[in-house]
Amino acid sequence: MTDFVDYEPNVHSARSDESVKIRPVESADADGLAAAMAVRGGTAEEYRDRALRLINRLDVLLIAETDGVPVGWCGIQKFSIHPDAEPEWLIAGLTVVPELRRRGIAARLLGGVLDATAGSAPNEPIFSVINARNLASIDLHQQLGFSEVGRAATFARIDFTGGEGILLRCSRSPDAYPVRDVVEFRFNV
Ligand SMILES: CC(C)(COP(=O)(O)OP(=O)(O)OC[C@H]1O[C@@H](n2cnc3c(N)ncnc32)[C@H](O)[C@@H]1OP(=O)(O)O)[C@@H](O)C(=O)NCCC(=O)NCCS
Repeated sequence: MTDFVDYEPNVHSARSDESVKIRPVESADADGLAAAMAVRGGTAEEYRDRALRLINRLDVLLIAETDGVPVGWCGIQKFSIHPDAEPEWLIAGLTVVPELRRRGIAARLLGGVLDATAGSAPNEPIFSVINARNLASIDLHQQLGFSEVGRAATFARIDFTGGEGILLRCSRSPDAYPVRDVVEFRFNV
């Protein structure tokens, strides 16, 4: 059982929802972030501690917000993709609430995280790992300049449902991203 969206490559997302703001997360967002995380299964209460840990630990953590309510999130942290390997920049947790999908919010979140990382750690490679069955997320990453560099049952300590995950690396310059938000961000390194 997964929560991957139905793959609809012939439908295209709207790109002009100005009511949705992308901004760095703050401590006060813990409950809202937990609620946005819980759309992948579970309750906000169950995610609250994890949300607080992410707020404290992630180097960049952005939320999408509308009317003061978080409706999506994406972050990045240094993490070992293979056991005993040096940590690399790895995208964490790209999610948008079901009611607001296909409006370009995930593309703005991921683009914002890429901008922030490229600005503070220029020329360092950025990776993401995705279940091979999550075709929508694979297309989204490719749009933002990622391309596949490997396939395996496990990456970054994630054992993929269905047995196969994809490792992608971002190889385009920030100037090439199709969507850009100006986001002031906090960077912990
Ligand atoms: C995957 C997810 C984050 C996409 O969020 P979104 O805000 O709807 O995505 P966007 O509107 O920004 O779409 C950007 C691009 O992603 C791709 N995409 C998004 N949803 C898609 C779908 N259902 N089918 C096919 N492609 C899709 C498209 O390439 C789209 O660009 P286009 O509209 O120009 O074709 C969202 O569906 C989600 O939260 N899913 C559940 C959690 C998940 O799988 N997260 C990814 C983990 S790696």
